[in-house]
Amino acid sequence: MTASRGETVDVNSERGAGEEPILELKNVSVSYGNIAAVEDLSLRVYADEIVTLIGSNGAGKSTTLRTISGLLRPRAGDVVYKGQRINGMAGHEVVKLGVCHSPEGRKIFHRMTVSENLDLGAFVRKDSAKIAEDRAWVLELFPPLRERLDQKAGTLSGGEQQMLAVARALLGNPALLLLDEPSMGLAPVLVDLIFQTIERIRRQGVTVLLVEQNALAALEIADYGYVLESGRLNLQGPAERLLSDDSVAAAYLGGSDVAAEVRRPD
Ligand SMILES: Nc1ncnc2c1ncn2[C@@H]1O[C@H](COP(=O)(O)OP(=O)(O)OP(=O)(O)O)[C@@H](O)[C@H]1O
Ligand SMILES: [Mg+2]
Repeated sequence: MTASRGETVDVNSERGAGEEPILELKNVSVSYGNIAAVEDLSLRVYADEIVTLIGSNGAGKSTTLRTISGLLRPRAGDVVYKGQRINGMAGHEVVKLGVCHSPEGRKIFHRMTVSENLDLGAFVRKDSAKIAEDRAWVLELFPPLRERLDQKAGTLSGGEQQMLAVARALLGNPALLLLDEPSMGLAPVLVDLIFQTIERIRRQGVTVLLVEQNALAALEIADYGYVLESGRLNLQGPAERLLSDDSVAAAYLGGSDVAAEVRRPD
């Protein structure tokens, strides 16, 4: 089976094996005033997957995540989470259902400490024993934060701020974690660390929808990928098939030589 262009879902009969997806977007369109940002987008995420959404600048990736997390309302279509239609629901209600968003550009509170930023991640929760457990877990995932709990978040390095953004989203106790460009602006060694950490997060039972400019790294850890172009779904398929697709390589992976490199057996 090859990755299929422009088709709606159900192209991968092995995927999900008859399970209901944890998240489904059905023909979702989103506009900012008169500007259409996402058009007729359908996608599925199954429990325990890492699914990546890739595409060029302005393709509609962040808009899609903002729509799922309740920051934007779709003009048409539905967002269905665990069988429940969530479009139109307030952001904090969506967090309560277990959908947590680490937004693009980090969006942490610079004048608050690391510790206070982490507290905000858990603001909809009341299970204090489990919050303490999750706090210990995220500090174990991101050790640099542990040494900086009392430091103002605005004084953290770029990489540490990114860790804080992901850690804060994890403190919402997500079943589904939405990550918007977690590797943006990071040095290669930190990029590797972030991607390894995303894999660890998935192993702890958190499903991940990952938006990335770094398509190669994202596809390497993802199970399935969707490629957006100018607000529309252009291509979708299992991640390994997208990695070996020449058009994906040419557009997003820095040329087909990269795809040949990725395909080459060890
Ligand atoms: N608040 C806004 N008001 C008006 N237009 C917007 C707004 N936010 C985004 N857009 C437009 O919607 C389109 C999709 O933007 P979006 O931020 O979703 O893209 P993206 O795929 O996340 O891009 P990038 O990779 O650069 O982050 C773009 O054309 C953008 O200019
Ligand atoms: Mg974006």
